[in-house]
Amino acid sequence: MDTAKEVEIQKEYMEKVRKINSGKELKYMILTMGCQLNENDSEKISGMIEKMGYTKTNDSKQADLFVFNTCCVRENAEDKLFGKLGELKKIKEKNGTIIAIGGCMMQEKHITDKIKASYPYTDILFGTHTMHKFPENLYKTIIEHKKREDIIDIDGKTYEGLPIKRENNLQASVTIMNGCNNFCSYCIVPYVRGRERSRMPKDIIKEVECLAKKGYKEIMLLGQNVNSYLRVERENNVKFEEYQGVNSFATLLYAINKIEGIERIRFISPHPKDFTTDVIEAIAKCDKICKMIHLPLQSGSTEVLRVMNRRYTKEQYLDLVEKMKNKIPNLKLSTDIIVGFPGETEEDFEDTLDVVRKVNYEQVYMFIYSRRKGTPGDKMENQIPEEIKHKRFERLKKLAESQIEVNNKEYIGKIEKVLVEGKSKTNDKMLTGRTQSNKVVIFEGNEELIGKLISIKIVSQHMWYLKGENQNA
Ligand code: 5AD
Ligand code: SF4
Repeated sequence: MDTAKEVEIQKEYMEKVRKINSGKELKYMILTMGCQLNENDSEKISGMIEKMGYTKTNDSKQADLFVFNTCCVRENAEDKLFGKLGELKKIKEKNGTIIAIGGCMMQEKHITDKIKASYPYTDILFGTHTMHKFPENLYKTIIEHKKREDIIDIDGKTYEGLPIKRENNLQASVTIMNGCNNFCSYCIVPYVRGRERSRMPKDIIKEVECLAKKGYKEIMLLGQNVNSYLRVERENNVKFEEYQGVNSFATLLYAINKIEGIERIRFISPHPKDFTTDVIEAIAKCDKICKMIHLPLQSGSTEVLRVMNRRYTKEQYLDLVEKMKNKIPNLKLSTDIIVGFPGETEEDFEDTLDVVRKVNYEQVYMFIYSRRKGTPGDKMENQIPEEIKHKRFERLKKLAESQIEVNNKEYIGKIEKVLVEGKSKTNDKMLTGRTQSNKVVIFEGNEELIGKLISIKIVSQHMWYLKGENQNA
């Protein structure tokens, strides 16, 4: 069946559930784990649920429908899911809450087996490839009072036209591609999200145009490997329709940069091996693209990178950074690093520290290596003892934090363009916003400034945020 037809069928199910629910004032709660792609999927799940007559709550005791959108990139998400499922048992006994679990973890058989054995009161299990069928699964659960398991293992398709309930009215995430073909040896994503596939240029551009009309100012383009947007399609001669000249990531950036009303464009995550010159040039030329690029390093050791199947060396990564810094004035970088990958020696770890020192990142997201069933990394014999992993993590953290402090000091006295997001959560006399380098800035100001891009003079730094003064006041 083609995907448009499948979406139509689900819209009919949404209508059926809405009718069953009418007049009942039902509530739903959704708990999202993991990355921004998952957050964006949750906005789509919420969109469907709200069309079916539920309103959102953040109190699980009030929920008539509870949905988990799970992540399996690292082990700690599993503990969180099982802990929360235990808590929900009593709530379900009292309120009859429908419990649904979806997302990446559901593509792992050992997890669904455990849920079925230990948490049999769960009603719906759905995977990454059947998320769009949530209305049908919910309808059948309500009507048939039977548990549903709807998980398939396929390459994956792209579904357009489903409703979406956005969490924020200033910044919006737009998924441009799904899946991954890279198979980094530590990573579970290619197994649970399927093969790389890009959304069509027209669908993305129309979505961003629509967001701009609604008043959104910042767009975050999402994908596991954004800079290979449409590459698989081009290489395999898959027919796709160009729209406004878009046939690659660089051309997509130019097209989005032209959309009136959008002030800032960000994207995550690119892969260093696919960071082509045309993309670097697009970043330099497009005024709306934030000059803050996330460039996952993972390890600074060429040998560890080889075993990780990252397909670049320490030198190639540093050369790329050099080339980017030369072509993009005032470029700032952030990164992801895994410590304690199997076989990582003290020397390898020193190489990671060396790259961190040389690149001088604005932000480092650090992860302790977590064994993932089914990945090559899990089968490697030379696993690193937990104690060493933790010690290395602390050393990296110390270095990264010392760099943040030094880098923050450089902002003092400078005038930064800040997109005002709202009132500060800790002090409602203050407003909060972000610089294009994604630093949080707190300053005194009138609520009318919310949603505007204004000039702020930075006066002090406080590790996780900067304080400033409004220059337009
Ligand atoms: N263990 C630890 N960190 C991981 N990541 C991916 N898989 C693992 C793993 N098995 C990290 C990578 C990736 C980020 C999203 O999560 O650094 O870039
Ligand atoms: Fe995982 Fe590597 Fe794909 Fe990123 S590029 S999702 S780390 S396999």
